[in-house]
Amino acid sequence: MMKRETVLITGASGGISYAFAERFAQNGCDIIAVARSEKKLYQLKNELEGKYEIQFVPYAKDLSKQEEVQSLYNEL
Ligand SMILES: NC(=O)c1ccc[n+]([C@@H]2O[C@H](COP(=O)([O-])OP(=O)(O)OC[C@H]3O[C@@H](n4cnc5c(N)ncnc54)[C@H](OP(=O)(O)O)[C@@H]3O)[C@@H](O)[C@H]2O)c1
Repeated sequence: MMKRETVLITGASGGISYAFAERFAQNGCDIIAVARSEKKLYQLKNELEGKYEIQFVPYAKDLSKQEEVQSLYNEL
């Protein structure tokens, strides 16, 4: 069996990173997604898990804040 890949995508709920999230999901990768808005991340989780057989793990973090970057690192 092939090993499933997991990708970490920052800014996954909008713009170019949203396109990356969709493309990786199409290719069967699990996704760890980071953005500030938890609501947008959960909308994307519902959308991508509904369309593809993947796991989408949302992390609501503000990456402009050092302590939130550190807490993401620790949690991962
Ligand atoms: N080289 C190229 O051809 C190219 C093309 C396109 C874009 N870019 C670059 O790629 C980057 C993204 O551009 P975009 O147009 O895709 O941006 P965008 O539409 O503004 O998307 C921003 C994404 O990042 C999240 N985000 C914003 N501030 C954040 C923060 N402090 N912490 C965590 N997440 C944050 C947003 O969600 P929340 O608001 O919920 O946090 C959203 O998911 C920019 O640096 C842009 O210059 C480069």
